[in-house]
Amino acid sequence: MDKYLRVAMAAAKEAGRIQKVHLGDLHHVEFKGEINPVSEVDKLCEKAIKQIILDAFPDHDLLTEESAFKGKGSPFKWIIDPIDGTTNYIHGFPFFCVSIALEIDGEIKLGVVYDPLFDELFQAETGKGAVLNGNRIAVSRMTNLDLSFLTTGFPYDVREHADFYLRFFRQFMMKSIAIRRPGSAALDLCYVAAGRFDGYWELKIHSWDVAAGGLMVTEAGGKVTDFKGGNFSIYDEEIIASNGWIHEEMLRVIQEIDMQ
Ligand code: IPD
Ligand code: CA
Ligand code: CA
Repeated sequence: MDKYLRVAMAAAKEAGRIQKVHLGDLHHVEFKGEINPVSEVDKLCEKAIKQIILDAFPDHDLLTEESAFKGKGSPFKWIIDPIDGTTNYIHGFPFFCVSIALEIDGEIKLGVVYDPLFDELFQAETGKGAVLNGNRIAVSRMTNLDLSFLTTGFPYDVREHADFYLRFFRQFMMKSIAIRRPGSAALDLCYVAAGRFDGYWELKIHSWDVAAGGLMVTEAGGKVTDFKGGNFSIYDEEIIASNGWIHEEMLRVIQEIDMQ
């Protein structure tokens, strides 16, 4: 896996460099939906990542947020979010990253997430643990949801379903010590992996948001499932990730929510 990891890290570092160079100097922001932005820097990062990966592995498939998927039928699929936290990025709010994962034969085998402002490089390989800037990381040891520090995000159709999403927020607000909504799902997951947050949930998430971060959590000793506690697939829309200790309690909170 070393050659894949080296390429993933090189691509993530290059995208991070581009993000840093253009921060605060944006010229063009478009909207893919009412409040779903994409800047020219998302596209620049995506182009650079694709080029680095395809130079090394021309036959591999690439699933990226900003381009339509054109699969070649390869068992190797790179899943890429060129900037996770675009709304933060275009406002100069320092919480964004690049996320790159490699799926082989339908299984996520490695993930790299790079936060260029803190120069934090998270990486995980299946069965080999999760690492931050070369040091092993582990989830927190918090066993009580009541004292847990949680994170979440809202999907881009929040204006249509605000009350529904707020039911989850309200319920967890009553059952935890505090909730943050920092604005980058990939970093939220890495922060769970590093023990900075105890748990995370989100609805209507995409594969590129969670592919690398999800592996980071499981490799750091945590747990990632769907809202019913079943196996999580990156192609699912709902995710709960935690240190494992508070997972059942988080699932119980969700079961209490009126889903209608
Ligand atoms: C978004 C961020 C945000 C999450 C949204 C994602 P983007 O990704 O991860 O935290 O709440 O669901 O779409 O659009 O900045 O790549
Ligand atoms: Ca994203
Ligand atoms: Ca993105």
